[in-house]
Amino acid sequence: MGKRKRPPQQREDRRGQGQERQLLPQKKHYRQRAHANPFSDHSLDYPHTPDAVDWAVHFPASPGPPEFADVGCGFGGLLIALAPLFPDLRILGLEIRVQVSQYVQDRIAALRVTPDAATHYQNISIVRANAMKFLPNYFAKHSLSGIFFLFPDPHFKQRKHKARIISPTLLAEYAYALRPGGIVYTITDVRDLHEWMKSHLEAFPLFEAVSEDELRAEGKGPVVDAVYTSTEEGKKVERNAGEKWLACFRRIEVAREE
Ligand SMILES: C[S@@+](CC[C@H](N)C(=O)[O-])C[C@H]1O[C@@H](n2cnc3c(N)ncnc32)[C@H](O)[C@@H]1O
Repeated sequence: MGKRKRPPQQREDRRGQGQERQLLPQKKHYRQRAHANPFSDHSLDYPHTPDAVDWAVHFPASPGPPEFADVGCGFGGLLIALAPLFPDLRILGLEIRVQVSQYVQDRIAALRVTPDAATHYQNISIVRANAMKFLPNYFAKHSLSGIFFLFPDPHFKQRKHKARIISPTLLAEYAYALRPGGIVYTITDVRDLHEWMKSHLEAFPLFEAVSEDELRAEGKGPVVDAVYTSTEEGKKVERNAGEKWLACFRRIEVAREE
């Protein structure tokens, strides 16, 4: 059977989609090692305090500090999923790997000029940063209502556990940046890492466990769904039919004794 010609409108639509695809960066041009050492001295520029950050560069439509932080955001799937769901909420990703953070920056820039979506994606941004060292340089006390650790590097070997992104010292920093009521979202496909994150969070006096059902009842279902499915690692786990372990905690308020 001979090829049928597409009607002109369909041809036009396909051409438009092709142009959009051309604008979006391709991962193959941003090759990078699988892991970066969080202890090595990267030549990173970082602000001395959160006040020193020019948020207008990151969030041009509504400059101001972010409310959500995606720590180790990888290729930015969570940022991009949440941006249109919460257009009034500023979200910052932190990523240590140069090429990966550049990819996310280029991806957001492209999305911002994509026809029909020009009003979206103004509320998400990324910094190349080592979150283990510089998190308080970006987030003021009690400024965040959500902090995300999605499929963090597992650092399987015992001697590498100190590189894990959840540890008692780092939890103190996360508790500082989160406002009372704010939520820590963690998810992983590594059972041992799940137990590690959960037990450290349970042992920390400023956090209490919050169930998935409670979060959904509070209207945070779309966030929980994005935590499960939006990121590149989460999608990979699905393709491999792996299990995902979610653990969420609420930052509690401690009444000061007079
Ligand atoms: C396994 S990937 C997961 C990425 C993403 N959250 C996802 O679910 O697809 C972990 C990411 O955390 C980044 N990372 C590891 N340590 C970090 C640190 N100290 N600061 C910032 N990013 C870090 C890694 O470069 C990597 O991109």
